[in-house]
Amino acid sequence: MLIDTYGRVATDLRVSLTDRCNLRCTYCMPEEGLQWLAKPDLLTDDEIVRLIGIAVTELGVTEVRFTGGEPLLRPGLVSIVERCAALAPRPKMSLTTNGVGLERTAGALRDAGLDRVNVSLDTLRPEVFQALTRRKRHGDVLRGLEAARAAGLTPVKVNAVLMPGLNEDEAPDLLAWALEHDYELRFIEQMPLDPQHGWKRDGMITAGDILASLRTRFTLAPEDDGERGSAPAERWLVDGGPARVGVIASVTRPFCRACDRTRLTADGQVRTCLFAREESDLRGALRSGAPDEEIARLWRVAMWGKKAGSGLDDPSFLQPDRPMSAIGG
Ligand code: 5AD
Ligand code: SF4
Repeated sequence: MLIDTYGRVATDLRVSLTDRCNLRCTYCMPEEGLQWLAKPDLLTDDEIVRLIGIAVTELGVTEVRFTGGEPLLRPGLVSIVERCAALAPRPKMSLTTNGVGLERTAGALRDAGLDRVNVSLDTLRPEVFQALTRRKRHGDVLRGLEAARAAGLTPVKVNAVLMPGLNEDEAPDLLAWALEHDYELRFIEQMPLDPQHGWKRDGMITAGDILASLRTRFTLAPEDDGERGSAPAERWLVDGGPARVGVIASVTRPFCRACDRTRLTADGQVRTCLFAREESDLRGALRSGAPDEEIARLWRVAMWGKKAGSGLDDPSFLQPDRPMSAIGG
């Protein structure tokens, strides 16, 4: 098991397949993009599948989430999913994507064994999408979402980040749209993970703001008596249910005590937390011929060092050196 000194057990593995992206969301990247990882530094498909295999067979991981950057940009994605689906025990597999290109790949991903997708979409207005992502791909994302549902990658979840002055007024419209299309909407508070350091605690749209805005049009009742287990989203029944909406209050109501995650970067580093300032290298061990048991041991040691929390609520909080796109969302 991947257990830490606070007794938390990590069963949910997030794997970043690439740090590259075809959008430039303002809360994530500067307009010109970032200094991408060099190809030789990236794990190969074989290395990724081997590490996931170790996590699943030796370390108790039951859920694998593929992220990026934009994971659909990874050429070997479908085959990676297929090979992971053949592991015993078979992990649950999902993909966090911006949806661009999903229209083309949803069917193949489903056939390969992917269970679900989370698609990021912050706005229903094409011009706001362009301001937020600096790309004209709004239509692609909407078509990608439709394709995901048609392929059975359900429940299709939609992640939305509200940004002051851009889409902060869109929460009720997004929810009405999600209900209409049978997507499960979750709002995520903006976190300080952008390399431009544009995040401001005072300016951010909080979970409280989002709920107040939603309540101008919907009634919301807590789904599970305020007990959310390890799920970061607090879920609300909309207008009596069964439809739901989630709010992930990473900043104002951190859920670190129940965290069940471990992360692998595209260059083979274990991260115990999005906001960790340390990483543990597995790629070096892989490439120097270490056996599975040794890699499993290094992973356990890394998780044993997991901190109690993100430190976001501490005034001395320092952003991680790597941006979200290199860590995996
Ligand atoms: N704060 C909150 N959410 C973010 N995401 C990317 N960067 C940030 C940030 N700084 C979101 C993406 C995606 C998910 C992986 O995280 O929009 O939905
Ligand atoms: Fe877990 Fe880190 Fe997220 Fe907290 S901030 S919930 S410790 S991954």
